[in-house]
Amino acid sequence: MGIHCILPTFDLFTNEKDKSLMARQKIVAGNWKMNKTYQQGLELASEVLPMLKDEVLPSQATAILGTPAIHLAAVAKLIGSQAGVYVAAQNCHDLGQGAYTGEHSADMIASTGAAYVILGHSERRQYNHETEGLLAKKVDAAFANGLIPIFCCGESLETREHADYISFVKAQLSASLFHLSKDLALKLVIAYEPIWAIGTGKTASDEQAQEMHAALRQHLAGHFGQNVADIIPILYGGSVKPSNAAGLFGQADIDGALVGGASLQSRDFVNIVKAAAQA
Ligand code: PGA
Repeated sequence: MGIHCILPTFDLFTNEKDKSLMARQKIVAGNWKMNKTYQQGLELASEVLPMLKDEVLPSQATAILGTPAIHLAAVAKLIGSQAGVYVAAQNCHDLGQGAYTGEHSADMIASTGAAYVILGHSERRQYNHETEGLLAKKVDAAFANGLIPIFCCGESLETREHADYISFVKAQLSASLFHLSKDLALKLVIAYEPIWAIGTGKTASDEQAQEMHAALRQHLAGHFGQNVADIIPILYGGSVKPSNAAGLFGQADIDGALVGGASLQSRDFVNIVKAAAQA
């Protein structure tokens, strides 16, 4: 396990029954992508952390900083024992070790103090040719090393306009997650990110997002059971900003956000966490 010793809250609950009594966690995860030098990243984290402490009760929302791999250990150290804030990597390799130049195993990621790993982001599916089968292995590697996967899914504009987009996204979940045991599925975080809304300034409407989130939860319930599906946080991602966060978080099946661009501005990110805490 990592050096960051405060564990995400699900670890406080020992079985499915206890957890089913709990409300779903609200989570806002920043995805810094390939932005910020080491120094700039530490500066951003140093701005965000005291604001979160002052303004957001950790019991109401969990904040996650998804940093580049080289920032992970230092940001985890800055967080220290601050409650309700965690670090996420943006990827991990599916294998444990070996001659894979430039890669990082889940074990190595966990040893930095990271608690989460973003997997299956559409940019990695597109530019790094990550397949559903590979992502299933990465999910396993993450869990085997104590990391919680934030599993991303979502359809392209072409799929949205010309195909059964709900079936498409459901199939992404089945292919990479449905081999998991119920115990592991309970720990998952899912992020629905319509590709046409990522970095475009175009957000899915509250209703469009809710339609998909409800369908995905029903799909999870069909396979893992309603108790499990009711616990899995499903985050929305795609041009989330302080101005549209409250509307999205007001939807029954939207449990937070995966935030790209706005997570690079400390005040914007903290305001989105606040919106989740108040939802
Ligand atoms: P965006 O990115 O908020 O900049 O649209 C979201 C993401 O890709 O996770």
